[in-house]
Amino acid sequence: MEWHQACGMVQNMLEVKNLHKKFGSNEVLKGIDFQIDKGEVVAVIGPSGSGKTTLLRCISFLERADQGTITFEGLHYDMQHITSKEIRKLRLGMGFVFQGFHLFRNMTALGNVMEGLVTARKVPKAAAKKTAWEMLRKVGMEDRAMYYPDQLSGGQQQRVAIARAIALNPQVILFDEPTSALDPELTGEVLDVMRTLAKEGTTMVVVTHEMRFAMEAASRVVFMEGGLVVEEASSAALFSDPKEERTRQFLRRTIADYDRG
Ligand SMILES: Nc1ncnc2c1ncn2[C@@H]1O[C@H](COP(=O)(O)OP(=O)(O)OP(=O)(O)O)[C@@H](O)[C@H]1O
Ligand SMILES: [Mg+2]
Repeated sequence: MEWHQACGMVQNMLEVKNLHKKFGSNEVLKGIDFQIDKGEVVAVIGPSGSGKTTLLRCISFLERADQGTITFEGLHYDMQHITSKEIRKLRLGMGFVFQGFHLFRNMTALGNVMEGLVTARKVPKAAAKKTAWEMLRKVGMEDRAMYYPDQLSGGQQQRVAIARAIALNPQVILFDEPTSALDPELTGEVLDVMRTLAKEGTTMVVVTHEMRFAMEAASRVVFMEGGLVVEEASSAALFSDPKEERTRQFLRRTIADYDRG
């Protein structure tokens, strides 16, 4: 048992410490500390190749970290020695929404949202269907419930993917650039759904290039570069008064890109 469990201290819902990851000789994460509290929305920003996706993949054990610890829902693990049984248990508390929507092509929107409930969570079909309808309503996709993915726009497919994630009622949802595969006019509808979830107190980690979303919907922003956290602060502080020169440069560049686009 860890000392903070022993003395009953309040702790973050999810915390990783000293996370290291190499691909061959390429050191992609160089000792990342990251934490999120219940109800927080944390945006992770940073240039391409800075390790943002790798961070999410290590947190969710899609990728095995070389070193580091993870604390989730009060349980503490060494990432090198965690067992596959422990990984399975830990992943039950996490939801994932990635850039590609990964919906089953041979199932309707409703079927896609029901699938995890029925197979992974063993929820009876009737109850799963009821939950799936509720979740589709929540993301504004009720009228498309019987459509197949190929009959839906990218934004609609991503909203189904979000419905599928929230249906499983995870403690935290990890988003990796959920709008980057979408045309600009479809980005807004997905961000609107995420803003609603944020307002409802859903705990979310969002890797994003959408600076406006980070500014408006995130409570805290983490700026990564070169496999390190360069700066983290409340969203208001990071955007209005960044402390690090590298953060200032990144924000200047990104905002200039916006103005050109
Ligand atoms: N499976 C892999 N095998 C080898 N190298 C990898 C692998 N995944 C990522 N990398 C390398 O790790 C580095 C960080 O990649 P990562 O995808 O985490 O960056 P990112 O911050 O998400 O970038 P982007 O904003 O472009 O999505 C890159 O140099 C990339 O080439
Ligand atoms: Mg990425």
